[in-house]
Amino acid sequence: MNSRNLIQINSYYYYQLLYSTESYRKELLHNSLIKERLDYFNRSKNMENNLVTTQGPLDMIQGIRGDLFGLQTLDLTARKAEPTEMFALDEAQIYIDGCDFPGTIDYLLLVWTLQERFGKELQDMHVLEAMCGPGRLGRDLLTEAGVARVTFHDGNSQMLTHAVSKATSILTSGQQVDSIQSDVTRITSSGDVFDLVLCHNSLHQLENIGRLRQAIAEMLRVTKPGGYVVIADYQRSNSLAFKNALSQRLAETRPEIVQLLLDTFLAAWSKEEFESVISSLEAADEFQIEEARLPSITPAMFMRMIEDPVLGHVMDRSPISQLIIIRKQ
Ligand SMILES: C[S@@+](CC[C@H](N)C(=O)[O-])C[C@H]1O[C@@H](n2cnc3c(N)ncnc32)[C@H](O)[C@@H]1O
Repeated sequence: MNSRNLIQINSYYYYQLLYSTESYRKELLHNSLIKERLDYFNRSKNMENNLVTTQGPLDMIQGIRGDLFGLQTLDLTARKAEPTEMFALDEAQIYIDGCDFPGTIDYLLLVWTLQERFGKELQDMHVLEAMCGPGRLGRDLLTEAGVARVTFHDGNSQMLTHAVSKATSILTSGQQVDSIQSDVTRITSSGDVFDLVLCHNSLHQLENIGRLRQAIAEMLRVTKPGGYVVIADYQRSNSLAFKNALSQRLAETRPEIVQLLLDTFLAAWSKEEFESVISSLEAADEFQIEEARLPSITPAMFMRMIEDPVLGHVMDRSPISQLIIIRKQ
């Protein structure tokens, strides 16, 4: 039996035990877990500056222990690319239906991180959301951070139509959106245009490291000198910290998505792979690669986090993901 079978059996038993019926899961989420999270919040609140400690919300959901998915014996040294880069049209619709739902704070967590990093300057930026999919990140930038202009980019026309029409419906005066459809390794834009290029949970879809290099070089080409490329994506690592965090994340994931998510992690780029690619690019003036983490969370932010039906989103700001910030020369 290979490790993949083991993973399926482990996750099957786990969900048989914990999430055997939908109504039980709902009850679990809406009563005990939320109460537990609120109690924890009240205990861990930093009364002086009214911020929750960054580690607090992560500790809260790290209650499940053990190697439930057989990850400890899984060798994650070699990458296993996903079968195709771009979604077919019907797959795109499935992704839109599955990922663009009102209650998610997945993208908002990154918007808060960007606000923490760039402060008020973020508002005046012209942002390119590369490989935007349903464009949820760009939309949250418009509504939550008041960003002036967002250009959505994707190779898939269905994703772009959805992203632009949703964003157009929430624009306030002075804000604009537009779109670019192209392969990410050949973005159809002149150079030096955007203050900030963002790419969220997408680069793991690229076939090989040569294409990863071309994609990042292209993002840097369209960025203004002194501007930034920010990549937030999953990572692949053999470290114990990573495997423990991934175990927790999978335990928070709907059972039917566990295998899909695991395949994503097999295709994710390691920190070292990102480092070798970025350090070979002349346009990258300086860069940092760090474990993803939560920004400082206020009580109001916290209340929004616990409303997210996918509790595991909070775990995406843990060692399972990485945040890469590149400044263009
Ligand atoms: C996993 S989805 C993520 C979408 C979005 N960033 C998010 O976080 O929800 C990856 C997106 O990348 C797009 N994509 C994949 N390969 C691409 C390529 N070579 N060029 C342009 N877009 C691509 C897909 O169409 C899809 O919308």
